[in-house]
This record gives sequence, C-alpha cells and structure tokens, in this order.
Amino acid sequence: MSTETVTIIDDTTGKKVQLPLLSPTRGPKTIDIGTLYKELGYFTYDPGFMSTASCSSGITFLDGDKGVLQYRGYAIEQLAEHSSYLEVCYLLIKGDLPNRQELDEFVHDITHHTMLHEALKRFFSGFRRDAHPMAIMVGVVGALAAFYHEHMDIHNPEHREISAHRLIAKMPTIAAWSYRYAMGKPFIYPVNNLSYTENFLHMMFSMPTEPFTPDPLLAKALDLILILHADHEQNASTSTVRLAGSSDANPFAAVAAGIAALWGPAHGGANEAVIRMLMDINESGKPLQAFVDRAKDKKDSFRLMGFGHRVYKNYDPRATLIRDICHQLLSDMESSGEHQKLLDTAMALEKVALEDDYFVQRNLYPNVDFYSGIIFLAMGIPMNMFTVIFAMARTVGWITQWDEMMSDPTSKIGRPRQLYTGLIDLEYVPLEKR
Ligand code: CMC
Repeated sequence: MSTETVTIIDDTTGKKVQLPLLSPTRGPKTIDIGTLYKELGYFTYDPGFMSTASCSSGITFLDGDKGVLQYRGYAIEQLAEHSSYLEVCYLLIKGDLPNRQELDEFVHDITHHTMLHEALKRFFSGFRRDAHPMAIMVGVVGALAAFYHEHMDIHNPEHREISAHRLIAKMPTIAAWSYRYAMGKPFIYPVNNLSYTENFLHMMFSMPTEPFTPDPLLAKALDLILILHADHEQNASTSTVRLAGSSDANPFAAVAAGIAALWGPAHGGANEAVIRMLMDINESGKPLQAFVDRAKDKKDSFRLMGFGHRVYKNYDPRATLIRDICHQLLSDMESSGEHQKLLDTAMALEKVALEDDYFVQRNLYPNVDFYSGIIFLAMGIPMNMFTVIFAMARTVGWITQWDEMMSDPTSKIGRPRQLYTGLIDLEYVPLEKR
C-alpha cells in the first residue's frame, strides 16, 4: 500500500489533514477522503461522479483518453478476435481465461439453466401486448427472485455463483420471450445443442411449424456484440446494481434495478435512439450539417445520439470494432440496401461531426451505440429490442461487479451525502390557517 498523502488545508481554521493517496494498477491516483468528514466536518460535492471513484475494482480497466478497454487485463480487441461470449463471461466471473475442460463445464452449466420456470410464462401474459420489452424484462428479472429463492444466501459464494449462472443462462430466454409475447407468437423453448447466440436467434425467430437453422454469420456477429457489451466498469447501470445490492438485496432485484437504469436514452437506450435519428435524417432530405447544427444549439434538446461519452475522450474502441462488424455483415448479406443506406448516413454523419469544431473541442466521438443498431436491424431485430440485447450482454458485468462487492468484507451500504439547499426550521401551520 502506498504511503503517499495529499494535504488539505482548511483556509478558515488553518487545520491540516493528510489524506492517503491510493495508486491503482493503472489510471489516475485517487485521494481517499473517507476520514474527511470526521477530520474537518466537511462533505465533498461531486454530482454525476465527475471525479469520484465509487469503489475499487479489479474487473474492467478503461482509459478514456487513449481509448483502451480491458477485461481482467485482456484487451477488448484480442477478446473480440479470439474469444467467445461465454468464454468472456467465464473470464469476467472467475478472473482468468478457462482451460478447455473449465470452458466446457461452464458452457454446459449455462446451457442447462436456460429454461424458465413454467409458471413464469404466465407472468409475460400479464403485460399489454404493446409493452416495451425493456419494461417486461425489468419485471420478469425482478420476479426471478420469487422462483429461485433456495439459492439466495447472498453471503454464500456458491449461491452467488449459481445466481450468476442462472441470470446469464436465462436472459436470452427472457429477452426472446418479451419479443414473442409482443408479436403474439408462441414462446419457443431453448435447445441445448445450440450455442448461446444461436439459441437466442432460435427463440426469437423460429416457429413450431417449421425447421429453423440459425444463420452462423448472424450468430457470430451477435456473439461479438455481446463480448463488446459485457462490462464497462462503473457506468450508471452497474453503479445502480452495486448500490441496490449494497443493501443486501438479492441479485435478481439488483440486476432488475440495473436494467431500469440502462433503459434511458443517455445510456443503453441510445442504440434505439440512433436508428430513429438516422431514419429521420434520411426521410428529411436535409443536409447532415443541419442536424449537427441542431446538436450544437444549446436551446435545442436534440443531441447527436451515439456520440459522446463520460469517460472516452477519444474513439470508443467498441465503436471501431462494431463498425467493422457492421461493414462485414452488410457486405456478406443479401438485400441489405436499406441497412447499407443507414450505415452510409451514419458514416457521413460521423465525418461531418468529427470535422466540426464543436465536436472536436469537446472530444465527442461515436460510442458503442452508434453502429450497433444497424447490425441489429440487419439481423431482423426490431428497434425496441436493441436495449434488451444490451441488457442481456451486460448481465455478466452487473453480476460480476455485484459479486466482487459482496465478497469484499469491507463493503458498506452505499449512502451518499447531500448538499442541502431547502428550507429549514419552519413552524407547522394548521390546515384551516393556510
Ligand atoms: N451531441 C451534442 N452535444 C453533446 C453530445 C452529443 N451527443 N454529448 C455531449 N455533448 C456536449 C454537451 O452539451 C456539453 O457541452 P458544453 O460543455 O458546451 O455544455 C459537452 O458536450 C459535455 O457533455 P456532457 O453532457 O456534460 O457529458 P456527460 O459526460 O455528462 O454525458 C453522455 C455523456 C453520453 C450522456 C452524452 O455525451 C450524451 O448525451 N450522448 C448522447 C447519448 C448517447 O449516445 N449515450 C450512449 C452513451 S455510451 C453507451 C452507454 O453508456 O450505454
């Protein structure tokens, strides 16, 4: 442990406090302010966590200035090229890559937990047909706690692992059934000899009346997308999972909270918003600069969706990989004219924005959501399912981060302070005198 410190001098009292300066494996040094209130009687103020590390973690490293993303020390580019989604899940959960036997056992375990309790099927039919599948997913994942409580001792590492496997295994089934219900189509059960992503495509698109073979090209592309979305350190939804879980809530409830946070268009909902924006641009016939100008106008709430990131001040490495997958998929697929037009518009928009001073000065680059929606559309996945797939991919990240927090004996309930700016010390006025 480092012995470096930072000294804070209170200008009003002259009191000095030495605070420990923590050194991460890589990244900015971090001032431990845990004793500040006790020493000086002050809180710190940092809305949106602009400079605050909410926890220490050994799972995912990201350097936003250099555009670096690593899971457990492995670069995302290498994992995208050589690994598979389930291998990445193992890596995130266990901390290192599996050998052949470990991977086979893990894949077998996930594959044999993909079924949902039969009573959960009836849960879906309680929703309106036009419900957003994210609303269904939040509800169904929260409801899992009602079905699997025999392994929910959150202080037992084995139970935590069983819950993690269950969540990863059942998410594709929940996601696909949310879609099937809205379409009025029968629920399709998972099949154990298919891969994780083939199974998802099978549950999404097959019909009981016809044989169905998932397209290996689409299954591979989807697998890559899942890898790229698997974890992203302390983003809004992951922090939500940690905060919900810090009260010792069960993992299904904590992950349901994460799904709710992911839904917003500033976070995972952006992939859906990007496609709506690209379609609007194509339909409007207006020049791209008109949309870039709107995004720059502070009086207009319009933003370039899929652009900008709290941490990346450089190209999001996931966006580079997803753009490449998008190119390859569209060139390998037949009749992709409509999707190619969306990709052309996206690339042209990116060019206009990246040459614009406003975007250059603020380091606004395409993020992971900018190109992913085009791939999903080309796969035949409807827009309202995009964020559901993001949630499916991110489940492993959420549950791994939750497990890391739960296995740390020093973890405490998350309880931020506030800077109170409301009224004080009022006298209650009886109703008849108001
Ligand atoms: N279009 C136009 N201006 C933007 C955009 C954008 N997409 N993003 C940021 N800005 C401007 C913003 O107005 C501000 O300008 P100024 O300094 O003049 O006030 C400056 O850039 C900094 O932005 P911010 O909103 O303070 O940055 P933030 O870190 O709080 O927000 C963000 C990050 C991702 C919410 C934001 O960039 C955004 O709304 N982007 C569009 C939505 C999006 O694509 N979200 C997906 C994020 S990546 C995947 C995920 O997290 O799920």
